[in-house]
Amino acid sequence: MANLRNLKLNRYLENGDALARVLREILESSRSLTGKGKPAGYIPELKNVDRSRIGVAVETIAGARASAGDADTSFSIQSISKLFSLIQVLERYGDEIWSRCGKEPSGSSFNSFAQLESERGIPRNPFINAGALTVTDLLHRRLADPAALIRDYLGVLAGAREIAIDEKVASSEFRTAHRNLAIAHILKVYKRISGDPVELVRAYCRQCAIEMSCVELARAALPLACAGYHPVFGEAVMTEKVTRRVNALLLTSGMYASVGSFAYRVGVPAKSGVGGGIVAVLPNFGTVAVWSPELDRSGNSLIGTRLLELFVQITGTGVL
Ligand code: DON
Repeated sequence: MANLRNLKLNRYLENGDALARVLREILESSRSLTGKGKPAGYIPELKNVDRSRIGVAVETIAGARASAGDADTSFSIQSISKLFSLIQVLERYGDEIWSRCGKEPSGSSFNSFAQLESERGIPRNPFINAGALTVTDLLHRRLADPAALIRDYLGVLAGAREIAIDEKVASSEFRTAHRNLAIAHILKVYKRISGDPVELVRAYCRQCAIEMSCVELARAALPLACAGYHPVFGEAVMTEKVTRRVNALLLTSGMYASVGSFAYRVGVPAKSGVGGGIVAVLPNFGTVAVWSPELDRSGNSLIGTRLLELFVQITGTGVL
């Protein structure tokens, strides 16, 4: 069986044309799900996005790449930014984050504060909003503009034109960020953050409002599939230890309350955002980034999840 799987993998690893055929096929068969989900309604500016958009891009560690649909259109990466702020914090400050944040799945929604209060201000993991706020606080303590750090870091990893923060999306979220402000205040009560809660949420909203395309996201995440080595630039850009740990956290917490059913259906480390993007890591193979703004009940892209499920099925790139 293992050999059969390797044969299948090798067919795609270096073959951009074969990958492009798969992407076209899965995009066409997923389109009929349009209308079954809802775009994020609680960030006013995100409601204006065309919900029929669908993009998918793949890049392999052997240099093959392919894309389909709206793969070059920039969208709001939202919680996908948490993946890169966590990498920065682990690379810069080692284990410091784990004295104020857990590593377990939360089983509740990404913006819940009930669990945080009952667990004395220790967020379950760094991907729910409470945990991501502790991560950004660690950066904010040493740097004036953590959102700019994440933006520039993503620009380097994606080898891209300058990546932008959509300030309209950031201020639209900040104006209605009552839940995140409540979470930040609970964190402050329990002394899990050192900075001002309001300034922290402002920085966090800007970090979430970074705009990228599927093509850029797939490339930026590629070192996670290659033990920290960036195949496009031919150098190590993350430590192997950090990539292993981050992939484990993605597999157990990257998709919030539906992490179990996502593992069951797709079976790879992945991070979603309420902008409708998901980036998935296929260790020792490559990365896939998908975008479709309509979300399921857990806040993950409905069509995006289907695209990933089909991609992994056809190519045999699941890790489980
Ligand atoms: O904090 C929020 O609610 C948003 N800026 C990000 C949430 C998010 O993307 C959750 N992902 N599926």
